[in-house]
Amino acid sequence: MELPFAESYKIKMVENIRKSTREEREKWIAEAKYNLFALKSQYVYIDLLTDSGTGAMSDKQWAAIMEGDESYAGATSFYKLKDTIKDITGLDYVLPTHQGRAAENVLFSAIVKEGDILPGNSHFDTTKGHIEFRKAHAIDCTIDEASDTELEIPFKGNMDLKKLEDVLKANPKEKIPAIVLTITNNTAGGQPVSMENIKGVSALAKKYGVKLLIDSARFAENAYFIKTREAGYADKSIIDICREIYSHADYMTMSAKKDGIVNIGGFLGFKDEKDMQKCQMYSIMFEGYLTYGGMAGRDMNALAQGLRESMEFDYLETRIKQVAYLASKLDEYGVPYQRPAGGHAIFVDAKKILTNVPKEEFQAQTLAIELYLEAGIRGVEIGALLADRDPDTKENRYPRLELLRLAIPRRVYTNNHMDYIAAALKNVYDRRESITSGYRITKELPIMRHFTIELEKVKR
Ligand SMILES: Cc1ncc(COP(=O)(O)O)c(C=O)c1O
Repeated sequence: MELPFAESYKIKMVENIRKSTREEREKWIAEAKYNLFALKSQYVYIDLLTDSGTGAMSDKQWAAIMEGDESYAGATSFYKLKDTIKDITGLDYVLPTHQGRAAENVLFSAIVKEGDILPGNSHFDTTKGHIEFRKAHAIDCTIDEASDTELEIPFKGNMDLKKLEDVLKANPKEKIPAIVLTITNNTAGGQPVSMENIKGVSALAKKYGVKLLIDSARFAENAYFIKTREAGYADKSIIDICREIYSHADYMTMSAKKDGIVNIGGFLGFKDEKDMQKCQMYSIMFEGYLTYGGMAGRDMNALAQGLRESMEFDYLETRIKQVAYLASKLDEYGVPYQRPAGGHAIFVDAKKILTNVPKEEFQAQTLAIELYLEAGIRGVEIGALLADRDPDTKENRYPRLELLRLAIPRRVYTNNHMDYIAAALKNVYDRRESITSGYRITKELPIMRHFTIELEKVKR
């Protein structure tokens, strides 16, 4: 008999989680003004809000924590981290930061000015926020296929090279501080970018004299997809694929809370020392001295070890197969999602499910609330709330996709939890016709409003 697939780790410590009643959840979500970010975590049974900083560290990472060097300057933990990053990416210069958006803040303070243009493949919301905060523009050049959730193509996160070249042609290079390539493409569904596409973007960057920034939160997962889906890479190791990816990068921003498998952390990587030097002042102002930048020595030690673990094929296979397992259950129940399954999450197609809820009442948010009410599962809206208002017209922006993201934390839940999630979604799906109204905004911030937004139920 062929042996079934099984996890590449065993469990050494557990954390208890608690179920609740529907009545309790109705009260809690109303108190949270229908914003799932405002829920206390103890009111959540399975937390799929994010895969960011929510993973389980390994025994080796906890051991590394004990050996952290907490020196203000020149800590051995910094050099361990720097050497690991150099080994994986080939980038020589590193500035640690406390998380990904802090890396964006430091880099964009140095390179982005009012009126600039940063083309990219679905900029992540904090990236877009940091660009628009500086009165610059994030131009989305993702391939059109990414918005057809039923289409199964291997690299749905790719940049459309024609769209990118049109932007590069139409603007002087002085106005384009960087092209932003996000791997994997979170907003489009955790979809990977192919090596061929990375090379194509890099060639255009060189042709037009523009720098390439790789937003790298899930770079190891992207490398796994290149190895398993792209011709010519099956025999290459994950680390070799990563080295090839970063041979094309001028800058990298990293939210280490994802593929660094740590609870907090981030960094900037640079090919050119001069680019790093431009950022040093902002790093010291916003994050801390150059050899700790917002992280404790123990955090940098755990991150160095986490990055090594994320290069292990067995770890990545366990992770990606768990997401695929959840997808296979949704296939069984007919629940539509962004196909094929992404690296870190399932993105449920709320527009296709809640056809009786008008888009002005936020379909994906409505679905997120229904799933919470059904089973205590917390997902997150990737739709009109996240898209913010147009900075010029102040009108709501309605993206082509209204998605409910169910992000799977690394090494945290079992496949029994996946079964529970799929069954809960099936129940919501089966009663979809009876859901006819959504929510309206009662309070919001001008940028990144989804974190703190307040809503009320629309009554018909
Ligand atoms: C692609 C991408 N870039 C940047 C960030 C921001 O990172 P952080 O949450 O660590 O600030 C995230 C976080 O989810 C992300 O997914």
